[in-house]
Amino acid sequence: MIVAGVMSGTSVDGIDVAIIDIRGSGTRTRIQLVRHQHASFPAAVRRRVLDVMNATASVAGLAQLNFLLGELYADAVIKAQRASGICVDLIGCHGQTIYHQGSPGRFLGRSIAATWQIGEGAVIAARLIKPVVSDFRVADIANGGQGAPLVPFLDYRLFRNATRGRIVQNIGGIANLTWVPPGAGEDDVLAFDTGPGNMIIDSLATRLLNRPFDRNGSAAAKGQVDAGLLRWALSMDFFKKPPPKTAGREEFGREFANEFLRRAGRARPHDILATATALTAHSIAAAIARFVFSGRHPDVDYFISGGGTQNKTLMNLLALELLPLGLAIRFTDEAGIPAQAKEAVAFAVLAYETWHGRPSNLRAATGALRSVPLGKVSYPGRKGP
Ligand SMILES: Nc1ncnc2c1ncn2[C@@H]1O[C@H](COP(=O)(O)OP(=O)(O)O)[C@@H](O)[C@H]1O
Ligand SMILES: [Mg+2]
Repeated sequence: MIVAGVMSGTSVDGIDVAIIDIRGSGTRTRIQLVRHQHASFPAAVRRRVLDVMNATASVAGLAQLNFLLGELYADAVIKAQRASGICVDLIGCHGQTIYHQGSPGRFLGRSIAATWQIGEGAVIAARLIKPVVSDFRVADIANGGQGAPLVPFLDYRLFRNATRGRIVQNIGGIANLTWVPPGAGEDDVLAFDTGPGNMIIDSLATRLLNRPFDRNGSAAAKGQVDAGLLRWALSMDFFKKPPPKTAGREEFGREFANEFLRRAGRARPHDILATATALTAHSIAAAIARFVFSGRHPDVDYFISGGGTQNKTLMNLLALELLPLGLAIRFTDEAGIPAQAKEAVAFAVLAYETWHGRPSNLRAATGALRSVPLGKVSYPGRKGP
């Protein structure tokens, strides 16, 4: 089956489309990437999505954005289809998260967790004239899970190994990892968000440098880490909380960046960016030492993906932080999935599972009580006689 996966993450940088050829089921699933394509969001769309996430939107604006994103996702799939010369049979679209609260809190007298991804699947189905699976996270939450992370399903399928342990790391807006111990069964997988990925760096680059991100980490490379500021950031409760745990703009969004800047005082922009970059690198290594294993493990591989891999300063700092754990950075490209494409591939695979009525949330990763097929299907229409 030819399936397109569509991902737009918390960085709100744009849309990744992966077209895969997928066959088989369970441990005998074969996945081959046919095409990966990235389309940047127009600046006005990015601004609007960020405003919505930071809670300044009307209901009408939200409803319109839901349909607009459906159109943009459809355009991106059509482009990828044209470029590959292959027609897809099914589309899996993650959508744009505008709110995520994985743990229940009291709300009007009830215990409620909530998540919301927009980008209307019905619009994509109508434009592509193909079925679309979207809204993957809600079923996991309804079944007592945190609704995230979902990508570990793919990590487990691709990286499970009889004799070697694998840490599969992604650095998007948020950084998350999947730990697949040697010879692991599904229930042995540990996956959680380690904290910020590019989110704080992007936010500071926008404000201090007037750029959407610190290209190649070149600003951070010129700065010095502010040890006091780094210590303050690492004292956040989130880093101490044991997994399962998820993070988003609710933890490391605009408010966090404001406080970071306030505490930085008159530090130079380059130093502030160097400190934010060190925060990502340090919190990843600390999470591994705290929650995965301590000491050196020569029989563990460390694979990485996501836009953060383009930030050279971040990769250098991370390599140094991982050294005491005996880990060396390798890219998921080695396993046939380019670093920029992995999350989009994951949603193609999840859509494929749902289309066949199979569950795809890893209970060990999300904390759900039941495994369940994820997402809702939008069907294409048929023209009248
Ligand atoms: N050349 C680059 N230099 C530094 N950072 C980059 C570069 N290219 C992409 N990035 C970072 O990667 C982010 C996008 O990564 P992505 O994996 O798409 O995250 P998300 O899943 O949150 O959308 C950008 O916002 C930016 O921070
Ligand atoms: Mg992205």
